[in-house]
Amino acid sequence: MKSPRKFYEPLAIGAPQPYRDLPVRVERMIHFVPAHLEKVRAKAGDMAKTVDVILGNLEDAIPADAKEAARKGFIEMGQKFDFGDTGLWTRVNCLNSPWALDDISEIVAAIGDKLDVIMLPKVEGPWDIHYLDQLLAQLEARHGVKKPIMIHAILETAEGVKNVEQIALASPRMHGMSLGPADLAASRAMKTTRVGGGHPEYKVISDPVDGQARTSVQQDLWHYTIAKMVDACQSAGIKSFYGPFGDIADEAACEVQFRNAFLMGCAGAWSLHPSQVAIAKRVFSPDAKEVAFAKRILEAMPDGSGVVMIDGKMQDDATWKQAKVIVDLAKQVAAKDAEYKALYGF
Ligand code: GLV
Ligand code: MG
Repeated sequence: MKSPRKFYEPLAIGAPQPYRDLPVRVERMIHFVPAHLEKVRAKAGDMAKTVDVILGNLEDAIPADAKEAARKGFIEMGQKFDFGDTGLWTRVNCLNSPWALDDISEIVAAIGDKLDVIMLPKVEGPWDIHYLDQLLAQLEARHGVKKPIMIHAILETAEGVKNVEQIALASPRMHGMSLGPADLAASRAMKTTRVGGGHPEYKVISDPVDGQARTSVQQDLWHYTIAKMVDACQSAGIKSFYGPFGDIADEAACEVQFRNAFLMGCAGAWSLHPSQVAIAKRVFSPDAKEVAFAKRILEAMPDGSGVVMIDGKMQDDATWKQAKVIVDLAKQVAAKDAEYKALYGF
């Protein structure tokens, strides 16, 4: 464990000073783009106007013979467009792959100043973050990058889940973490063939009572992992995200999974298809009625202490803090999104 004073020192001479606080950004959806496809790349500038984060995917779902084209395509996309306040991220190949080193070094060399976050797949422990942290500092110094590139880990191995708290604390570069339900299912030997979401056979059933049909309810396969991830991330001052939902046609199930994650503390989710952008936007922008109620709590307790009743519900210091989480998020969303500014009445 590093001493507190050393924790924030740059890891290479000439590398930028690490952030002490995360830049405040609304990141309701991380939109995945397969950058090896010319047609998709050409639309990236317009797509970026409709999402909070645009991510050039280089890892899984990109065929092995298109890995270099995806890397080059992402660099071209990064150079060509002005992304404004939309985050520019990439998901590089995992550290033991033949592509990771070139992904990281070529991208930082070409567009290091535009790149906000590197998403690192299959993180197993803090050692993976330490490696990337050091490498990024060297590359930032070599290429004169002015602001630190952040790291976002995918939580998608059993070992990663076991080490999630150390991963969250591994570096001041840590931006946050996403659940990777597909790889995690495989790593845990779960008996599923899905990318996120529930399973009809993972359920509870009521006790048998003579003459009555037994009721059965599906349970959430991801509840434990998301709770563990949220606690690790929030206690480290970083953000947590639901990852991918692969059944693109099942918008209702996608919305429910995203909303559970939002209610549990997550800041956003991945969008794999334009239809999921609207879902993520709807889910990860707080509900207008909740915002209105939260505002009433803050107004009723201006100094955040004491006890008041609102609509028959007790409010105290703790509900004031919950209300503040919602109102602070609503203000951030309103500052970015005129539609929500009007809805929330800020
Ligand atoms: C994402 O990378 C996943 O494995 O679910
Ligand atoms: Mg994965």
